[in-house]
Amino acid sequence: MQDLKGITFDEYVILRQKDFPSAQGDLSKLLRDIALASKVINREVNKAGLVDILGMTGVRNVQGEEVQKLDEYANEQMIKYLKAGGQCCAMGSEEEEDFIIVTDEHAQEAHYVVLFDPLDGSSNIDVNASIGTIFSIYKRVSTGIPTIHDILQAGKHQVAAGYVIYGSSTMMVYTTGNGVNGFTLDPTIGEFCLSHPNIQTAANGKIYSINEGETNNWPQYVRDYVSYCKENVKDENRPYSHRYIGSMVADLHRNLIKGGIFIYPPTTKAPKGKLRLLYECNPMAFLVEQAGGKATDGLNRIMDIEPTELHQRVPVYIGSKNMVEKLEAFKAAE
Ligand code: AHG
Ligand code: MN
Ligand code: MN
Repeated sequence: MQDLKGITFDEYVILRQKDFPSAQGDLSKLLRDIALASKVINREVNKAGLVDILGMTGVRNVQGEEVQKLDEYANEQMIKYLKAGGQCCAMGSEEEEDFIIVTDEHAQEAHYVVLFDPLDGSSNIDVNASIGTIFSIYKRVSTGIPTIHDILQAGKHQVAAGYVIYGSSTMMVYTTGNGVNGFTLDPTIGEFCLSHPNIQTAANGKIYSINEGETNNWPQYVRDYVSYCKENVKDENRPYSHRYIGSMVADLHRNLIKGGIFIYPPTTKAPKGKLRLLYECNPMAFLVEQAGGKATDGLNRIMDIEPTELHQRVPVYIGSKNMVEKLEAFKAAE
């Protein structure tokens, strides 16, 4: 394929549409709507440090406006741009208890539903660490007024998924099921430009990411696997390095690029794990599988799980294929 590095996200999705004639034009429009929302969110994320100067969240700023929490702001922007774009008939968000039906005139003709975590890792905002927006796109399965069945689809039916990371630079990483591509926002022109074509994750990584403070609350097989990660076995590159930001987007982005495993197991406090199937684990599983990695709940492929509720939680073991399989072997030996 010709070297497309540097081309803009908008140009890229239009070009790829020609490569895959089955992809419908309105999917590329939908992806561009999400990119636009994320640029608006990015602008506000970049100002987050100024909140201390302009006023804390929840109080009025000098203009007499309520200073909004960033995750609420991000949620509003996603909803606003998805509604305005006209390609989305229903959506589900971490910040909304129920799914949202778009009631605009032509919404029922729109083909897609979008599930999203508008701001992931939001506890990191105060300390300038990376945060992100995660999205997952499906084709609707009903006709007429969208129903919960459009929302509760297994991850294997996703037509696209991705995240935007607001980090030392802002990047959008997405897949439509034909590999994973990463675009870095060039703030001078306000465009995402292709910087990481065809991202592949190593089969054997050297990083494990888990909240180690919870060690005493993990199942035994997770403790055993983490002890294995720490063993001195030079030939196998062990001990691995432990890296954990506490922001799924940032932890998984690093592991995708460098190779590694991200673990959020069941704990005694959270027996089903903490992370959400529909707008955290499924989109990340789609990306990681497309990059050659693996994502399971210890028994099942994440993308095979039939969801029963919008905010369902699931344990997740995701990343470099051989590392995930090693952890599964520890579970099987239990
Ligand atoms: P959110 O900010 O959307 O609520 O998500 C936070 C999540 C996820 O980003 C991260 O991996 C995890 O919480 C960290 O949880 P612990 O603090 O329990 O490790
Ligand atoms: Mn989250
Ligand atoms: Mn969130």
